[in-house]
Amino acid sequence: MNSVPKKFQLNSIIHHNEYLINGKISKWSGNKANIYSTLLCDSDEKDPLLIGTSPEMSSELAMEALNAASKAYDSGKGNWPRMKVYERIHCMSTFVQKMILKRDEIVKLLMWEIGKNLNDSEKEFDRTIDYINDTIEEYKRIDRKGATFQNKSGVRALIRRGPLGVVLCLGPYNYPLNETFALLIPAIILGNTTIFKPAKHGVLLIAPLLNAFKESFPAGVVNIIFGRGRVLATPIMESGKIDVLSLIGHSSSAIVLQDLHPQKNRLRLVLGLEAKNPAIILKDADLDLTVKECLSGSLSFNGQRCTALKIIYVHEEVKDEFLTKFSKKVDELELGMPWENTLLTPLPEPSKPQYISDLIDDATSLGAKIINKKGGQRSKNFTFPAVLYPVSKKMRVFEEEQFGPVVPVVSFSDVSDPLNDMADSNYGQQASIFGKDVDALGPVIDSLVNLVCRVNLNSACQRGPDIFPFTGRKDSAVATLSVHDALRSFSIRTFVASKDNELNKNILREMIDSKKSNFIRTDYYL
Ligand code: G3H
Repeated sequence: MNSVPKKFQLNSIIHHNEYLINGKISKWSGNKANIYSTLLCDSDEKDPLLIGTSPEMSSELAMEALNAASKAYDSGKGNWPRMKVYERIHCMSTFVQKMILKRDEIVKLLMWEIGKNLNDSEKEFDRTIDYINDTIEEYKRIDRKGATFQNKSGVRALIRRGPLGVVLCLGPYNYPLNETFALLIPAIILGNTTIFKPAKHGVLLIAPLLNAFKESFPAGVVNIIFGRGRVLATPIMESGKIDVLSLIGHSSSAIVLQDLHPQKNRLRLVLGLEAKNPAIILKDADLDLTVKECLSGSLSFNGQRCTALKIIYVHEEVKDEFLTKFSKKVDELELGMPWENTLLTPLPEPSKPQYISDLIDDATSLGAKIINKKGGQRSKNFTFPAVLYPVSKKMRVFEEEQFGPVVPVVSFSDVSDPLNDMADSNYGQQASIFGKDVDALGPVIDSLVNLVCRVNLNSACQRGPDIFPFTGRKDSAVATLSVHDALRSFSIRTFVASKDNELNKNILREMIDSKKSNFIRTDYYL
C-alpha cells in the first residue's frame, strides 16, 4: 500500500452494512461478502487485498424492497407516478447536486474495485452527472411536446408518456456507475419505482450514494439492496410484480430472470447484452489510423467493454503490414496501476487471467500464432494481450465474447466472408469499417447497418456520446438507450381523449385553469 499515492490510499477496510428500503437506511447484521481488490496481487505470493465487506442480504429483504417499490407505485395510483413532472425533476436535481459531492470517493473506489484507470474513472463519474442533467433537460422537452391537445376526426387528445411500473435494475461491473445509472435515472424520473442491486464488482462505490437517494426521493421510489443475484432477484422476479427488467449483462442471466416471471407478457425488457463487435479492414485503409483505433477499440480498459472490438478482420493484401504495426503497438502498451493512467490495468475478476490464457491456449493448439512478443505473458492479476492470427471458426475466441485482453485476427480476400460471419453470429451491436474507397465502402456499409446498429467509419466502436442511440440486434440488446430513447424505453404513451363537443371542451378548460389534474395541463417546466 506504501507504493500507492496518498490521495488514492484506502485508509481502512470499508465495512459497508447499509441498505435503502422504503425511504429508510437500515443496518444489515447478517452475512457479509468480502470485497477484494486485485490491484496489488501481481504475483502468486500476493493474495487479493481485502478492501471491504458488503451485505449479503436475504430474500426476505428483497421482498421487502419489492413491496416498498410496489406500494410507492400502487399500480399507478401512487404519488410518485401521478406527481407533476416538475416535482419529479426537482427530486432528480436535488439528487444530482448531492451526488457531485461524492466524486472523489467514488472515483477512488472505481479504481480499487474494478481497476479502471483514473482518467476513465473520472470520465465515468462526470459522464454520469452529464447524463442525469441531459436526462432532466430531455424530459422537459418531452413534457413540453405533450402539453398540447391534438384534434382529429372529432376526437381531442392529450398524449403524454407515462411510467410502466416497478423496475428491477441490474448493472454491470465494468461501468458500475454509468451504465447502471443510465437505466436507473430515466426509469425513476418517468415515475416508475425501482429496486436496484449492484453487480458483483463495483459495490462499495454505490454505498456513498445511499443518503443522496434517501434524501432526494420519496419513500419506496428507489430501493437499493446488496447481495447475490440468485438470492435477491429470483424471488423478486417470481413474484410477478416486476413490470420492467432492466439489465446490462449477459443474455444468459437475462433469460433466466425473464423465465422466472409468471406473466411474461407483462414484462418489458430493457437489456444491454454481450457483443462481438468486429473491425473490418479493407485493403486501402489508412493503416496508421486503423492501428490506433483498433488499439484503443480492442484494449482500452483491457477490452472489458461491451463495445470493445472483439475480432479484427483484415484484408489479405494488408494483413502483414497491419499485424506488424498493430502487434508492435500492443507490445508498447504498459500495464500499470489505475492512478498511473495506463491503458492496461489489473483485471478485477480473479478468474479472468486464466480464462484469457485458456482462450490463447485453445487458439494456439488449433493453429493460431501469438504475433506479438509479450502476448500471453502472465501475472496473477493479468494476462498480457495476445494478438492471435490466423483465427478460425473452430477456436473459442472466434465465437466467445472474451471481455478481456486478447485480440483475434482473421484475414479475408472477399469482404462477404466477414459479413457472412456477422450474419451467422448471435450478436449485432456495432462494427468498425476501415477504408477510403467509396465504391468499396458503400455496399459494405449498406449491409453492415442491417447487421448491427452502429457502423463506425474509420473509428473504433463506442457507446458515446450518450445522445446517440445505443442498442443492438439479435442477442446484443432489447430496447434502445440514449438520453432520449431511454426515456421512451421506460415509459409508454398514454392519453386522455374526448369527443369534441362543448361539454368536454368546458371540462378540459376548467381542468387546465384550476390545475386539478397533473396530467391534463398545458403548462410546462422551463
Ligand atoms: O460496456 C459497454 C459500454 O456501454 C461501453 O461504453 O463505449 O463508452 O466505453 P463505451
